[in-house]
Amino acid sequence: MTRAPLSLFGLHGSRPLAEQVAARLEIALAAHEERDFEDGEHKARPLQDVRGHDAFVLHTLHGGEGDSANDRLCRLLFFCGALRDAGAARVTAVAPYLCYARKDRRTKTNDPVTTRYVAAMFEAVGIGQVITLEVHNLAAFENAFRCPSLHVPAAPLFAAHFAPLLRRVPAVVVSPDTGGAKRAEQVREALESLRGAPVGAAFMEKHRSGGVVTGTLFAGDVRGRVAIIVDDLISTGGTLLRAARACREAGAAEIHAAAAHGLFTGGAEDLFAAGLFGSVVVSSTVPPFRLAGAARARLTVLDAAEPLARAIAACHDAG
Ligand code: R5P
Repeated sequence: MTRAPLSLFGLHGSRPLAEQVAARLEIALAAHEERDFEDGEHKARPLQDVRGHDAFVLHTLHGGEGDSANDRLCRLLFFCGALRDAGAARVTAVAPYLCYARKDRRTKTNDPVTTRYVAAMFEAVGIGQVITLEVHNLAAFENAFRCPSLHVPAAPLFAAHFAPLLRRVPAVVVSPDTGGAKRAEQVREALESLRGAPVGAAFMEKHRSGGVVTGTLFAGDVRGRVAIIVDDLISTGGTLLRAARACREAGAAEIHAAAAHGLFTGGAEDLFAAGLFGSVVVSSTVPPFRLAGAARARLTVLDAAEPLARAIAACHDAG
């Protein structure tokens, strides 16, 4: 049986990352057109035949650089719908950063469960599969999306980056909140396996209500060790800063931050100005367009294109 041809599209604003993924797959990006109208509406269509194709559409869903997360989500949905209408055999949404993944449960009476509503919209336009990288809560994501999903973990990226830097120094992986404990454990295990030496674990207490963050409990031994604080994303940087201060008070010798998605919203420059971090490491799922000068120069960006390309190839091969 002949396999459906693979087409990979990269929407406006995600083009550089899509091109890197296409290069890893040794293909050219498929041609499409996006038009913006005066009233803010837009349309996008493929400029090539997609009938019978296994189509992948890459669009990273952060807000900011001229368009909001909502704008990006809308473009992705409409373009995927257009591909289905044009006869694509299957459409896979590749959202390296998935918006609204943090709103995966009710924390107040009558709260929305927005992750599930996003999943319902994916389904409504005929998206048959979704690929994302290091989502906020894997269980919530897998339950919200009823279509097949492929989650690309950031742990191998972080472990490969830090293992050669740590060599024989004692190290500990820190979760800045209990919700991220499994993520931190994945990084700890991956790092331990690459180094072939034990790596410790530590946790910080964090509660957020009405925008106010509380909790001061810190568990784990970081004294004299290199502490790597791991999170899914950096927004204001407040979560990492409070965990770093706790590590410093508990005697950590050196502190590094590793987060899959660098949103760097207002105030995140403090991360770099605080003088607490030896390095701040993110992946390339979100371009660091909000950082400039010294902060941008001190940021380390790991390549997300390679694991995303592998995920696309695996989905395509599996059919
Ligand atoms: C929250 O549960 C997330 O995992 C992140 O810790 C949080 O969104 C980071 O936000 P910020 O950088 O503003 O503290």
